[in-house]
Amino acid sequence: MKKMKVNYIRKCDAVSGMLSLPDASIDMVVTSPPYDQMRTNGNAAVFDFPPIAREIWRVIKPGGVVCWVVEEQISNWSESGTSSVQRLYFKELGFALYNTLIMQPNFQRTNTRVRYGRSPQYCFVLSKGKPKTIDLIRDRKNSTAGCRTPSTFRNENGSLRFSTVGVVAEYGVRQTTWHYMTGGSHLTADEFAMPHGSMMPEWMARDLVRSWSSPGDLILDPMCGAATTTKMAAMEHRHWIGFEPFEKHYQISLQRMKSLWDCPCGAINHGTDFACGKCGATKLEQSA
Ligand SMILES: C[S@@+](CC[C@H](N)C(=O)[O-])C[C@H]1O[C@@H](n2cnc3c(N)ncnc32)[C@H](O)[C@@H]1O
Repeated sequence: MKKMKVNYIRKCDAVSGMLSLPDASIDMVVTSPPYDQMRTNGNAAVFDFPPIAREIWRVIKPGGVVCWVVEEQISNWSESGTSSVQRLYFKELGFALYNTLIMQPNFQRTNTRVRYGRSPQYCFVLSKGKPKTIDLIRDRKNSTAGCRTPSTFRNENGSLRFSTVGVVAEYGVRQTTWHYMTGGSHLTADEFAMPHGSMMPEWMARDLVRSWSSPGDLILDPMCGAATTTKMAAMEHRHWIGFEPFEKHYQISLQRMKSLWDCPCGAINHGTDFACGKCGATKLEQSA
């Protein structure tokens, strides 16, 4: 069987890009569509959701996971409802609505005098059956860490049964709301990527990739923008494919992937890092 080409970004729209991929060839999709008319970049007309969703369903492997990061536009006193429509369409295609995350910025400049905050940014985590990889991030500090607590179970007749006494771990699994800092430097240190204008924070893509894929898996972003997903996939030792139809974004995505550098210790580093994040060797030592 012909080996599938991986680790590339192609200048094309999401549907034609995915049509070039075999059925059930992708382990994970991490993507973020254009949000209604919020950031059109003059290109909103080309975004047609149903064929994109159908192609994602076709190319994702059984047990594969799709992270669909989306936010709603508010106009005429109403949220658009677009993300709800998309979510239910994914369900109709056969996806399980496996987990819903809310990406909560710590600070919002938006005027909120007439409602509580702005529309949340969701990450719909969809799976084709039971996810084949689940590696949840445990970075929530337990307030009762170190305490000894008995586990209790409810018997069928309603009475309580006490079992072993366990020690509460220092950290538990992260909850459904993920908090993050807003502002360019909290998204990425790649200043050249800023003109894209609607990038995902790097840590968000990285944590999604870590949660539902394994090293060596193939990650797709069919609307890859400035290549945040593919960059984080590469740094996490996954294979990657990205599609982006618009020249300006495509050029940024190419530059972003080219700026990564490999260290002989095995780590893949940000272009902006002078020293390897794993072994500390400097770029100069690498080239000497
Ligand atoms: C919200 S941005 C994605 C940003 C990306 N996650 C990142 O962090 O850089 C949406 C991207 O979808 C692209 N886009 C719009 N219509 C598209 C289509 N039909 N196929 C593929 N990409 C499309 C836009 O050019 C834009 O770069």
